[in-house]
Amino acid sequence: MVSRRPDPWPQDHGGDVWVQPEGARVVDFSASINPYGPPPGLWEELGRVWPRIVHYPDRRCRGLRAALAHRFGLPGEVILPGNGSAELIDLVLRALAPARLVWCPPDFSLYAQFAPAGTALVEVPRQAARGFRVDFGRLAETVQPGDVVVFSNPGNPAGCLEPADEVLRLARRCRERGALVLVDEAFMDFCPEEGVLGRAADGGGILVLRSLTKFYALPGLRVGFLAGPADLVGRIARLQVPWSVNTLAQVAGAHCVGRRAWEEETRAAILGEAERFRERLGRLPGVRPLPSAANYLLVELLPPAPTATAAYEALARQGILVRHCGSFGLGDRYLRIAVRRPEENEELVGALEGILGVRRAAG
Ligand SMILES: Cc1ncc(COP(=O)(O)O)c(C=O)c1O
Repeated sequence: MVSRRPDPWPQDHGGDVWVQPEGARVVDFSASINPYGPPPGLWEELGRVWPRIVHYPDRRCRGLRAALAHRFGLPGEVILPGNGSAELIDLVLRALAPARLVWCPPDFSLYAQFAPAGTALVEVPRQAARGFRVDFGRLAETVQPGDVVVFSNPGNPAGCLEPADEVLRLARRCRERGALVLVDEAFMDFCPEEGVLGRAADGGGILVLRSLTKFYALPGLRVGFLAGPADLVGRIARLQVPWSVNTLAQVAGAHCVGRRAWEEETRAAILGEAERFRERLGRLPGVRPLPSAANYLLVELLPPAPTATAAYEALARQGILVRHCGSFGLGDRYLRIAVRRPEENEELVGALEGILGVRRAAG
């Protein structure tokens, strides 16, 4: 039997709203999902295709793959849709089974969790003093033949954005050394200018992951995709459970990625609100939100602010769920807070003011 050390922290992932009593009001800041919901027309589209569930899904995801190829200007054969990008992280690591997986904690925990049994984990940490940026210099020195290097960009939980140039330079270095970079761009729709998806098919030592969960607000349907050199993507696809992307997820994905005007408006609304929300949080004593390129803020709590556990618990009692960052290895000092709608963000600021004993100025 495998023994598992009990996790000392309250959460190992965001979005677990299911533990609340049925009907209880929860405002979920713990998973970073677009608070405005999916693009218009999705419910009608899903209603229209509902009868198709009497058939197996299209195993090759032809419609979704074509929509993604069209949207991102890539050939269809370099794209592999998956049951969320989580499935694809697992598939890539199982298919490549590298001797070493080089990762950059604090970062998304599934990279380490899905490392195959024989894979050694090598850490090139992101330092708090450097705003949790990826240390490209150390990565380039560390990488050895056969390695897979993985990191999220923008980074989770800190939201820092690495320039595409740096990512591509590292990928070239990896290719020269016979290694590979897996860039997880789950949140790149919020800041697409630094994405390297368009370069994924070049054979330049890079695989790119995207998720439709966050920007398109589809966490419950499970849809993401991988892009990379066609031969490698084909090898990875052979390990995928057949029909893992269900019919509704395929239709929803194809519907969502074509909405360019909605995309622009959504991005502008969320990034504008992120800036305003950060500024509001930063005025609270001991509350230090870091700059972020995405729809979440990593918030450091310093005295007189309470510990992350105390803040998490006090907020939870008011039906407000935030992400405690203990399971990212950040101890009891950090929370990750999604950017939601202005009125919800104000509710959270008000709750924190209550916890901190701050009185609001009248008027
Ligand atoms: C950085 C990052 N990558 C990937 C995922 C997995 O997303 P999904 O499987 O919903 O596409 C998450 C989810 O939290 C994430 O934060």
